[in-house]
Amino acid sequence: MVPASVADYRELARRRLPRLLFDYIDGGSYAEVTLARNLADFQSIALRQRVMRDMTRLDLSVQTLGQTWAMPVGLAPVGLAGMYARRGEVQAARAAAGAGVPFCLSTAGICAVEEVARDAAPPWYQLYMLKDRGYMRELLARVHAAGCPVLVFTVDLPAAGTRYRDVRSGLSGPRSLGGALNRVWQGASRPAWLWDVWARGRPHLFGNVVAAIPEARGIDDFWVWVGRNFDRGVTWEDLAWVRETWDRPIVLKGVLDPDDAREAARLGADGIVVSNHGGRQLDGVRSSVSALPPIVDAVGGQLEVYLDGGVRSGLDVLKALALGAKACFLGRAWAYALGAGGQKQVSRMLSTLRAELSTAMVLTGCTDASRAGKSLLDTLKLEDHFVSSASAPSTSPDLAG
Ligand SMILES: Cc1cc2nc3c(=O)[nH]c(=O)nc-3n(C[C@H](O)[C@H](O)[C@H](O)COP(=O)(O)O)c2cc1C
Repeated sequence: MVPASVADYRELARRRLPRLLFDYIDGGSYAEVTLARNLADFQSIALRQRVMRDMTRLDLSVQTLGQTWAMPVGLAPVGLAGMYARRGEVQAARAAAGAGVPFCLSTAGICAVEEVARDAAPPWYQLYMLKDRGYMRELLARVHAAGCPVLVFTVDLPAAGTRYRDVRSGLSGPRSLGGALNRVWQGASRPAWLWDVWARGRPHLFGNVVAAIPEARGIDDFWVWVGRNFDRGVTWEDLAWVRETWDRPIVLKGVLDPDDAREAARLGADGIVVSNHGGRQLDGVRSSVSALPPIVDAVGGQLEVYLDGGVRSGLDVLKALALGAKACFLGRAWAYALGAGGQKQVSRMLSTLRAELSTAMVLTGCTDASRAGKSLLDTLKLEDHFVSSASAPSTSPDLAG
């Protein structure tokens, strides 16, 4: 199949990856209600079609946190990418650099920050608050020395969400002989992956935290360590600690509530990602795109507001910009493409997304992505756009028009 859309990359990844990896990428938490809302709410947003404007010149670039991005799209942190393709984080970072957009490396990446910086470009770096602050300090020093320009501090995972698919597939849950044989079978039934990743993509360790657990023998030991080290005691005061330890921009990822966004702005965060972790954490919360307008209303102009969750096309990107996002991050879209065929497919997916965004701009009369705003939206009351907001608390102001 020649992939035309993110749905096609998803299908190619499903065919190429062992089931437990595909389900890890594809799944959400509990009944996956929020995951579905993230997608459905994008589909329900109506843009205004405008005609007869001179659309020969388009500017897709955005300036943010001292950088220029070639388009308002970045690659969100995704754990285990080095298991989807050989040294997957490096491949994805090269594709992002080729497209002129940022790549954010997960703490749970297979490739270490030094490897990505050396073989591709210094990535943005994503960190969870770990109980071991000494280790965090060391890690931040390494990330700084590797030249990472921005720290993305993920705040919506003080504990990991319950993901039924990962238990069923054998990725998490109790270990047993039957489970081990099942995993071997899943790998053996995907020979292309076996050769590319299993045989030639080693070491399969969590490169960023390997020094903390020298006795680890495989990925399972890292999961246990990372799980034990999430700090449930984290508070806003810890942001001040991070601020003292890191002198470059800090972006808080996982903000869904306007009050939290105000707190982030008050404490000097440089940006936030409006996100529900792609529906992988608290199931039942509203979609990230429906959470965006009230947050932009609360803090827009004080810090950069980015969005992730459910972005599957350039059309979705324009909708998010119209609702006030500075830029969007892609999670599953690039993970599927990487699983489908490494750097080449991630590059291809990004150029498709760029073409889609250009077309959407032409058809809405928007010549400059950095100036996209509410005037691109149909004049429905915004809350009427979202299927999920019917049951959501009515904190959002009326943003008609
Ligand atoms: C397979 C997978 C692994 C992820 N790992 C991380 C991670 O390590 N750190 C993090 O902050 N977010 C992680 N996320 C969340 C993404 O950064 C992002 O918030 C989410 O994928 C956006 O939703 P989307 O997949 O619909 O684009 C992960 C998401 C997926 C799909």
